Amino acid sequence: MKNFVSVKDVKNIDALIQQALDYKQSPLKDQTLGRGKRAGLIFFNPSMRTRLSTQIAAKNLGLDPIVVDVTSDTWSLEFADGAVMNGTTVEHIKDAAPILGSYFDVLCVRSFPKLQSRVDDESEQVMNAFIRYAGVPVVSLESSMLHPLQSLADLITITETFKEKRKPKVVLTWAPHIKPIPACVANSFSEWVTAWGKAEFIIAHPEGYELSTEYTRGAETTRNQAAALDGADFVYVKNWSSVTDYGKILAPHPEWLLTESHLARAPNAKVMHCLPLRRNVELSDSVLDGPRNILTQLAKNRVWSAQSVLAEILKG
Ligand code: CP
Repeated sequence: MKNFVSVKDVKNIDALIQQALDYKQSPLKDQTLGRGKRAGLIFFNPSMRTRLSTQIAAKNLGLDPIVVDVTSDTWSLEFADGAVMNGTTVEHIKDAAPILGSYFDVLCVRSFPKLQSRVDDESEQVMNAFIRYAGVPVVSLESSMLHPLQSLADLITITETFKEKRKPKVVLTWAPHIKPIPACVANSFSEWVTAWGKAEFIIAHPEGYELSTEYTRGAETTRNQAAALDGADFVYVKNWSSVTDYGKILAPHPEWLLTESHLARAPNAKVMHCLPLRRNVELSDSVLDGPRNILTQLAKNRVWSAQSVLAEILKG
Protein backbone atom coordinates (compact mmCIF):
# COMPACT_ATOMS: atom_id res chain seq x y z
CA MET A 1 0.00 0.00 0.00
CA LYS A 2 1.46 3.37 -1.04
CA ASN A 3 -0.88 5.79 0.77
CA PHE A 4 -4.03 5.30 2.85
CA VAL A 5 -6.51 8.12 2.38
CA SER A 6 -9.65 6.26 1.29
CA VAL A 7 -11.05 2.77 0.72
CA LYS A 8 -9.81 3.08 -2.86
CA ASP A 9 -6.28 2.51 -1.55
CA VAL A 10 -7.27 -0.93 -0.25
CA LYS A 11 -7.01 -3.97 -2.53
CA ASN A 12 -8.72 -6.44 -0.17
CA ILE A 13 -10.89 -5.07 2.66
CA ASP A 14 -11.49 -8.48 4.24
CA ALA A 15 -7.75 -9.23 4.32
CA LEU A 16 -7.11 -5.88 6.05
CA ILE A 17 -9.86 -6.66 8.59
CA GLN A 18 -8.50 -10.16 9.20
CA GLN A 19 -4.98 -8.81 9.67
CA ALA A 20 -6.36 -6.35 12.24
CA LEU A 21 -8.12 -9.18 14.09
CA ASP A 22 -4.88 -11.18 14.04
CA TYR A 23 -3.07 -8.21 15.62
CA LYS A 24 -5.82 -8.03 18.23
CA GLN A 25 -4.92 -11.62 19.21
CA SER A 26 -1.14 -11.10 18.95
CA PRO A 27 -0.30 -7.37 19.14
CA LEU A 28 3.48 -7.87 18.97
CA LYS A 29 3.70 -10.56 16.29
CA ASP A 30 5.28 -8.07 13.83
CA GLN A 31 7.20 -6.04 16.41
CA THR A 32 10.30 -5.76 14.20
CA LEU A 33 8.50 -4.71 10.99
CA GLY A 34 9.09 -1.00 11.65
CA ARG A 35 12.42 -1.27 13.45
CA GLY A 36 14.65 1.74 12.82
CA LYS A 37 11.79 3.70 11.20
CA ARG A 38 9.79 6.73 12.35
CA ALA A 39 6.19 7.84 11.82
CA GLY A 40 5.31 11.54 11.98
CA LEU A 41 1.80 12.10 13.33
CA ILE A 42 0.86 15.58 12.11
CA PHE A 43 -2.22 17.10 13.77
CA PHE A 44 -3.97 20.24 12.56
CA ASN A 45 -6.93 19.43 14.87
CA PRO A 46 -7.61 17.87 18.28
CA SER A 47 -7.81 14.11 18.83
CA MET A 48 -7.86 11.53 21.57
CA ARG A 49 -8.56 8.13 19.97
CA THR A 50 -6.75 8.67 16.66
CA ARG A 51 -3.63 10.13 18.26
CA LEU A 52 -3.26 7.47 20.95
CA SER A 53 -4.35 4.41 18.94
CA THR A 54 -1.96 5.29 16.11
CA GLN A 55 0.91 5.77 18.55
CA ILE A 56 0.18 2.40 20.20
CA ALA A 57 -0.18 0.69 16.80
CA ALA A 58 3.15 2.13 15.62
CA LYS A 59 4.93 1.00 18.79
CA ASN A 60 3.47 -2.51 18.41
CA LEU A 61 5.21 -2.65 15.01
CA GLY A 62 8.52 -1.30 16.36
CA LEU A 63 7.88 1.98 14.53
CA ASP A 64 8.78 5.15 16.48
CA PRO A 65 5.85 7.63 16.46
CA ILE A 66 6.50 11.34 16.97
CA VAL A 67 3.49 13.63 17.35
CA VAL A 68 3.56 17.15 15.90
CA ASP A 69 0.73 19.52 16.81
CA VAL A 70 0.88 21.91 13.87
CA THR A 71 -1.30 24.51 15.60
CA SER A 72 1.25 25.05 18.39
CA ASP A 73 4.54 23.27 17.61
CA THR A 74 5.53 24.56 14.16
CA TRP A 75 5.39 27.64 11.95
CA SER A 76 1.99 28.34 10.45
CA LEU A 77 1.78 26.69 7.05
CA GLU A 78 0.67 28.10 3.67
CA PHE A 79 -0.98 25.75 1.16
CA ALA A 80 -2.05 28.07 -1.69
CA ASP A 81 -0.04 27.80 -4.89
CA GLY A 82 1.54 31.12 -5.84
CA ALA A 83 0.71 32.74 -2.50
CA VAL A 84 2.39 36.05 -1.71
CA MET A 85 3.21 35.24 1.88
CA ASN A 86 3.00 38.69 3.43
CA GLY A 87 0.29 37.67 5.92
CA THR A 88 0.11 35.25 8.86
CA THR A 89 1.53 32.11 7.21
CA VAL A 90 5.29 31.68 7.65
CA GLU A 91 6.28 28.53 5.75
CA HIS A 92 4.92 26.97 2.56
CA ILE A 93 3.98 23.28 2.51
CA LYS A 94 6.17 22.93 -0.63
CA ASP A 95 9.17 23.72 1.60
CA ALA A 96 8.03 22.03 4.82
CA ALA A 97 6.68 18.70 3.52
CA PRO A 98 9.95 17.45 1.93
CA ILE A 99 11.73 18.17 5.21
CA LEU A 100 9.12 16.22 7.18
CA GLY A 101 9.46 13.48 4.56
CA SER A 102 13.21 13.39 5.17
CA TYR A 103 12.73 13.03 8.93
CA PHE A 104 10.01 10.35 8.77
CA ASP A 105 9.36 7.10 6.87
CA VAL A 106 5.59 7.62 6.93
CA LEU A 107 3.50 10.73 7.60
CA CYS A 108 0.08 10.42 9.24
CA VAL A 109 -1.98 13.61 8.87
CA ARG A 110 -5.20 14.91 10.44
CA SER A 111 -6.75 17.97 8.83
CA PHE A 112 -10.46 18.76 9.18
CA PRO A 113 -12.51 20.74 6.64
CA LYS A 114 -13.18 24.43 7.24
CA LEU A 115 -16.87 23.99 6.25
CA GLN A 116 -16.78 27.35 4.40
CA SER A 117 -16.63 26.09 0.80
CA ARG A 118 -17.64 22.64 -0.45
CA VAL A 119 -15.32 22.98 -3.46
CA ASP A 120 -12.34 23.88 -1.27
CA ASP A 121 -12.99 21.06 1.20
CA GLU A 122 -13.55 18.49 -1.56
CA SER A 123 -10.18 19.44 -3.04
CA GLU A 124 -8.44 17.86 0.01
CA GLN A 125 -5.78 20.54 -0.27
CA VAL A 126 -3.83 19.58 2.87
CA MET A 127 -3.78 15.80 2.41
CA ASN A 128 -2.96 16.10 -1.29
CA ALA A 129 -0.14 18.57 -0.60
CA PHE A 130 1.50 16.11 1.78
CA ILE A 131 1.10 13.31 -0.79
CA ARG A 132 2.55 15.53 -3.51
CA TYR A 133 5.51 17.05 -1.67
CA ALA A 134 6.53 14.77 1.24
CA GLY A 135 7.96 11.91 -0.85
CA VAL A 136 6.93 9.27 1.73
CA PRO A 137 3.66 7.35 2.25
CA VAL A 138 0.79 9.36 3.75
CA VAL A 139 -1.88 7.93 6.05
CA SER A 140 -5.06 9.92 6.70
CA LEU A 141 -5.93 10.43 10.34
CA GLU A 142 -9.10 12.17 9.06
CA SER A 143 -9.22 14.55 6.15
CA SER A 144 -11.70 17.13 4.89
CA MET A 145 -14.06 14.47 3.53
CA LEU A 146 -13.05 11.05 4.93
CA HIS A 147 -11.95 9.18 8.06
CA PRO A 148 -10.74 5.81 6.73
CA LEU A 149 -9.00 4.47 9.88
CA GLN A 150 -12.30 4.99 11.72
CA SER A 151 -14.24 3.18 8.99
CA LEU A 152 -11.86 0.23 9.03
CA ALA A 153 -12.34 -0.01 12.82
CA ASP A 154 -16.11 0.13 12.22
CA LEU A 155 -15.95 -2.88 9.87
CA ILE A 156 -13.59 -4.76 12.20
CA THR A 157 -16.16 -4.27 14.96
CA ILE A 158 -19.11 -5.42 12.85
CA THR A 159 -17.14 -8.45 11.60
CA GLU A 160 -16.11 -9.65 15.06
CA THR A 161 -19.56 -8.99 16.59
CA PHE A 162 -21.92 -10.43 13.99
CA LYS A 163 -21.76 -14.22 13.75
CA GLU A 164 -24.93 -15.09 11.78
CA LYS A 165 -24.78 -16.51 8.23
CA ARG A 166 -26.93 -13.73 6.70
CA LYS A 167 -25.82 -10.17 5.95
CA PRO A 168 -26.21 -7.79 8.93
CA LYS A 169 -28.65 -4.91 8.58
CA VAL A 170 -26.53 -1.78 9.16
CA VAL A 171 -28.21 1.61 9.58
CA LEU A 172 -26.39 4.94 9.50
CA THR A 173 -28.72 7.39 11.20
CA TRP A 174 -28.27 11.16 11.35
CA ALA A 175 -28.31 12.66 14.85
CA PRO A 176 -28.78 16.21 16.09
CA HIS A 177 -25.87 18.41 17.17
CA ILE A 178 -25.44 21.92 18.52
CA LYS A 179 -22.90 23.02 15.91
CA PRO A 180 -22.02 22.23 12.28
CA ILE A 181 -20.06 18.99 12.08
CA PRO A 182 -18.20 17.65 8.99
CA ALA A 183 -19.60 14.68 7.07
CA CYS A 184 -16.24 12.84 7.05
CA VAL A 185 -17.27 9.93 9.28
CA ALA A 186 -20.61 9.45 7.52
CA ASN A 187 -19.02 9.73 4.06
CA SER A 188 -16.29 7.31 4.95
CA PHE A 189 -18.57 4.80 6.68
CA SER A 190 -20.84 4.81 3.62
CA GLU A 191 -17.92 4.42 1.23
CA TRP A 192 -16.44 1.50 3.18
CA VAL A 193 -19.72 -0.37 3.82
CA THR A 194 -20.76 -0.14 0.16
CA ALA A 195 -17.30 -1.16 -1.08
CA TRP A 196 -17.29 -4.07 1.41
CA GLY A 197 -20.67 -5.26 0.10
CA LYS A 198 -21.34 -7.56 3.04
CA ALA A 199 -24.19 -5.66 4.70
CA GLU A 200 -27.73 -4.57 3.98
CA PHE A 201 -27.04 -0.84 4.31
CA ILE A 202 -29.52 2.00 4.86
CA ILE A 203 -28.81 5.68 5.51
CA ALA A 204 -31.53 7.63 7.35
CA HIS A 205 -31.50 11.42 7.61
CA PRO A 206 -33.90 14.38 7.63
CA GLU A 207 -34.58 16.39 4.48
CA GLY A 208 -31.61 18.54 3.45
CA TYR A 209 -28.93 16.29 4.94
CA GLU A 210 -28.28 14.18 1.82
CA LEU A 211 -24.68 12.99 1.64
CA SER A 212 -22.69 13.25 -1.58
CA THR A 213 -23.54 10.36 -3.90
CA GLU A 214 -19.80 9.96 -4.46
CA TYR A 215 -19.75 8.13 -1.12
CA THR A 216 -23.26 6.63 -0.87
CA ARG A 217 -23.59 4.98 -4.30
CA GLY A 218 -25.17 1.54 -3.74
CA ALA A 219 -26.77 2.45 -0.40
CA GLU A 220 -30.50 2.81 0.25
CA THR A 221 -31.41 6.22 1.71
CA THR A 222 -34.57 7.26 3.55
CA ARG A 223 -36.06 10.08 5.63
CA ASN A 224 -38.05 7.51 7.63
CA GLN A 225 -35.83 6.77 10.62
CA ALA A 226 -38.32 4.36 12.25
CA ALA A 227 -38.59 2.19 9.13
CA ALA A 228 -34.82 2.16 8.71
CA LEU A 229 -34.26 1.06 12.32
CA ASP A 230 -36.77 -1.79 12.08
CA GLY A 231 -34.82 -5.04 12.56
CA ALA A 232 -31.42 -3.35 12.53
CA ASP A 233 -28.37 -5.30 13.72
CA PHE A 234 -26.06 -2.27 13.90
CA VAL A 235 -27.06 1.37 14.26
CA TYR A 236 -24.32 3.90 13.55
CA VAL A 237 -25.28 7.25 15.02
CA LYS A 238 -23.64 10.38 13.62
CA ASN A 239 -24.37 14.02 13.02
CA TRP A 240 -23.33 15.84 9.89
CA SER A 241 -24.12 19.33 8.64
CA SER A 242 -25.83 19.90 5.31
CA VAL A 243 -23.78 19.06 2.23
CA THR A 244 -26.08 20.73 -0.29
CA ASP A 245 -26.43 23.92 1.83
CA TYR A 246 -22.81 23.47 2.70
CA GLY A 247 -21.77 23.44 6.37
CA LYS A 248 -25.15 24.62 7.67
CA ILE A 249 -27.49 23.27 10.34
CA LEU A 250 -30.83 23.52 8.53
CA ALA A 251 -33.12 22.51 11.42
CA PRO A 252 -32.24 20.99 14.81
CA HIS A 253 -34.52 17.89 14.59
CA PRO A 254 -34.30 16.88 18.28
CA GLU A 255 -36.65 13.97 17.52
CA TRP A 256 -33.72 12.25 15.75
CA LEU A 257 -31.84 11.88 19.09
CA LEU A 258 -31.57 8.10 19.37
CA THR A 259 -33.25 6.70 22.50
CA GLU A 260 -34.28 3.22 23.60
CA SER A 261 -37.81 3.83 22.36
CA HIS A 262 -36.48 4.39 18.82
CA LEU A 263 -35.01 0.88 19.00
CA ALA A 264 -38.16 -0.92 20.15
CA ARG A 265 -38.31 -2.80 16.81
CA ALA A 266 -34.59 -3.57 16.80
CA PRO A 267 -34.20 -5.67 19.96
CA ASN A 268 -30.74 -7.00 19.03
CA ALA A 269 -29.30 -3.81 17.57
CA LYS A 270 -25.84 -2.77 18.71
CA VAL A 271 -25.17 0.95 18.70
CA MET A 272 -22.00 2.53 17.31
CA HIS A 273 -20.57 6.05 17.27
CA CYS A 274 -17.02 7.18 16.43
CA LEU A 275 -16.81 9.45 19.52
CA PRO A 276 -16.56 12.04 20.93
CA LEU A 277 -20.33 12.45 21.35
CA ARG A 278 -22.70 14.74 23.21
CA ARG A 279 -24.89 12.69 25.52
CA ASN A 280 -28.63 13.33 25.30
CA VAL A 281 -28.13 15.42 22.16
CA GLU A 282 -26.98 12.71 19.74
CA LEU A 283 -27.54 9.56 21.83
CA SER A 284 -29.51 9.13 25.05
CA ASP A 285 -28.21 7.89 28.39
CA SER A 286 -30.79 5.09 28.08
CA VAL A 287 -28.90 3.68 25.09
CA LEU A 288 -25.36 4.58 26.18
CA ASP A 289 -25.70 3.08 29.65
CA GLY A 290 -27.29 -0.13 28.37
CA PRO A 291 -26.15 -3.37 26.71
CA ARG A 292 -26.43 -2.11 23.11
CA ASN A 293 -23.43 0.17 23.53
CA ILE A 294 -20.30 -1.16 21.75
CA LEU A 295 -18.50 2.20 21.61
CA THR A 296 -15.58 1.18 23.82
CA GLN A 297 -15.05 -2.01 21.82
CA LEU A 298 -15.09 0.11 18.66
CA ALA A 299 -12.63 2.68 20.05
CA LYS A 300 -10.28 -0.13 21.16
CA ASN A 301 -10.39 -1.50 17.61
CA ARG A 302 -8.88 1.76 16.38
CA VAL A 303 -5.51 0.33 17.51
CA TRP A 304 -5.84 -2.76 15.30
CA SER A 305 -7.17 -0.71 12.41
CA ALA A 306 -4.11 1.58 12.54
CA GLN A 307 -1.75 -1.35 13.06
CA SER A 308 -3.11 -3.23 10.05
CA VAL A 309 -2.75 -0.16 7.83
CA LEU A 310 0.71 0.82 9.08
CA ALA A 311 1.86 -2.77 8.54
CA GLU A 312 0.65 -2.61 4.91
CA ILE A 313 2.45 0.71 4.43
CA LEU A 314 5.67 -0.72 5.89
CA LYS A 315 5.40 -3.86 3.72
CA GLY A 316 4.51 -1.75 0.66
N1 CP B 1 -13.16 8.97 16.49
C1 CP B 1 -12.07 9.78 16.51
O1 CP B 1 -11.44 10.04 15.48
O2 CP B 1 -11.76 10.26 17.75
P1 CP B 1 -10.69 11.41 18.01
O3 CP B 1 -11.21 12.66 17.34
O4 CP B 1 -10.62 11.54 19.52
O5 CP B 1 -9.39 11.00 17.41
